Amino acid sequence: MTLAPAKREVLVPLIAEQRPKIVVIVGAYVGYFALMLGGALVALYGRENVELGECKVFSFEKDPMCAAVSSSFVELAGLKGVIDVVFGKAAVQMRRLKEEGKLERVDVLLLDHCEKVYVENFKVVELGLLTEGSVIVADNVVYSWCAGVFGVCEGWGGL
Ligand SMILES: C[S@@+](CC[C@H](N)C(=O)[O-])C[C@H]1O[C@@H](n2cnc3c(N)ncnc32)[C@H](O)[C@@H]1O
Repeated sequence: MTLAPAKREVLVPLIAEQRPKIVVIVGAYVGYFALMLGGALVALYGRENVELGECKVFSFEKDPMCAAVSSSFVELAGLKGVIDVVFGKAAVQMRRLKEEGKLERVDVLLLDHCEKVYVENFKVVELGLLTEGSVIVADNVVYSWCAGVFGVCEGWGGL
């Protein structure tokens, strides 16, 4: 589990304030973030409403072992109807889901994978998936190779 409690203190209130329906996480690892934000959606809207399919967490993971482990944790937590763990490179899978009409908007985008491809993945989401008020959260952006992400995210919610 890779998130410090301090990050939880920022992210859970963010869900309560923004009231997102669709949350996208790029970089699942073993699913800590997905479980945390899936649980926050259930707390906000109630399980029945979330499971109607309007609200969802999509958690993208390119490593097959991590994808399998995070899927198991989602199942163990009883959040299968709330969180979809999607195996594969996020840019490819997000494009596929968009083309299939399964991902039509992103209210909260959380970039927590490989900082060198933050911009590449942000640009996929920017293509018609962000709406007014969408919020982008990116971990580790203090590194110099992430500088570009600030420029491309200008104008979208908060970073
Ligand atoms: C820092 S960990 C994510 C931690 C996770 N968000 C959590 O809640 O604990 C980064 C993960 O991103 C995955 N990853 C890196 N590049 C990716 C990409 N292009 N698409 C999908 N997953 C990626 C890695 O395999 C790794 O599991």
